[in-house]
Amino acid sequence: MKFFLALGFLVVCCSALSTKQQRRFPDDFLIGTATASYQIEGAWNEDGKGENIWDYLTHNNPAAVKDGSTGDIAANSYHNVERDVEMMRELGLDVYRFSLSWSRILPSGFANEINEAGVDYYNRLINEMLKYGITPMITLFHWDLPQKLQELGGFANPLASIWFEDYARVVYTNFGDRVKHWITINEPREICYEGYGSVHKAPILNATAIGTYLCAKNVLIAHAKAYHLYNNEFKDKQGGQCGITISANSFRPFTDSEEDHAATELRRQAEFGLYAEPIFSEEGGFPKELVEIVAEKSAKEGYPWSRIPEFTDEERELVRGASDFFGVNHYTGFLVSANEQISDRPTIPILPDITVGNYIPPEWPQSASYWLTLSPDSIYDTLTYLQKRYNDPIFYITENGWSSPPTNGLLDDDRIRYYRAALESVLDCLDAGIRLKGYMAWSLMDNFEWLEGYTERFGLYEVDFSDPARPRTPRKSAFVYKEILRSRVIDH
Ligand code: NOJ
Repeated sequence: MKFFLALGFLVVCCSALSTKQQRRFPDDFLIGTATASYQIEGAWNEDGKGENIWDYLTHNNPAAVKDGSTGDIAANSYHNVERDVEMMRELGLDVYRFSLSWSRILPSGFANEINEAGVDYYNRLINEMLKYGITPMITLFHWDLPQKLQELGGFANPLASIWFEDYARVVYTNFGDRVKHWITINEPREICYEGYGSVHKAPILNATAIGTYLCAKNVLIAHAKAYHLYNNEFKDKQGGQCGITISANSFRPFTDSEEDHAATELRRQAEFGLYAEPIFSEEGGFPKELVEIVAEKSAKEGYPWSRIPEFTDEERELVRGASDFFGVNHYTGFLVSANEQISDRPTIPILPDITVGNYIPPEWPQSASYWLTLSPDSIYDTLTYLQKRYNDPIFYITENGWSSPPTNGLLDDDRIRYYRAALESVLDCLDAGIRLKGYMAWSLMDNFEWLEGYTERFGLYEVDFSDPARPRTPRKSAFVYKEILRSRVIDH
């Protein structure tokens, strides 16, 4: 305990001694942390929760997860409501973003049977947060689809949008009196490309030719239906806002050549444009360039139709403009080249139909995740691009964070360096007039990092996974974050 007090004291003193004129985060700018249900909750089969696709994958195909682990207990948050909120209070968070486990609320996925114990858990969490003035931001779906729905095709089935809309109605009805910030879906690219078009996330379908595109269309329609449902039936009474979170990293050309510029733009469209363009562009629909490439490839491969589905006019209009804000999960950056062989690092997968070269300068510090480095000014670069391309939307950075190996312990200077750089970049965005309203660090605590299991740690709080109760201890970065929240300036 003494050690932590001393550490905290040191952090406060260092910041107080700094004489440099510091920029402040506005008082109404929400600073917080984020988590997701399957990654922290555990209690995978308790109190009536149904099975979801991550339960199914980790139980039936343990070799798919690097350390063979599961989220059965995860960080045990289901049994730690008070402690989790205590950590939020220790940090002084404005906002906490968490997700709901669909199959904890609706065990089969369908809205005909509500599990009241699941609803209670989230009520306890929300009420405990509100007691201390912490704003809840809820993600309806962060990847843990009820297994029954997957057996019907999951997001490859157009009916998924109806299942999702029914689920959203249950959620808004039960929690919307107190929750005013909604995110329908977290990271459609990772759901669709990584889960349906390849083998990087559950349900690891590997339907390379068409899985990503089918899923993309259905996910976007599901999002749009949940958005309109909120707007039409709940917004007047509840007065909240509803958006989507898309992962958007920074892509800058490796050289100033025309080819590298073109490759960079193609990569942006393949990574986030596929999902952002239909919602946030003026015309709506999938990015034209991608549609052309996939149509051409499909024809060459002998298909009588393009593998990328069209939106009907009605669907296009349903999706276009369907978001009150653009939630951005941002972690890192890449230099992009038309030359695919530019680097001997493992290629970062984008889409089955698009490959470009990516390069990471060796001087960019490396995290424990192969894809995550500290890429200078990458938040500013990404948001200025998105602002221009999508006509100045309201943004939230709904995730941003740094991983370290499990052996790193509590003294995480690398994470501190990353957060300070990221937050400077956030202030640059605010100075430039970008309508950025909040920033959430990933993550409040260590958790189950999907197919990497517990081998990569993102927490401001360390979780002891060898103890069944999963006790939490603040890392040095937690003290730094706390001080930034308290003073509204970045200490150096
Ligand atoms: C984004 C995802 O939303 C989250 O679940 C994941 O843990 C982080 N990236 C880190 O990989």
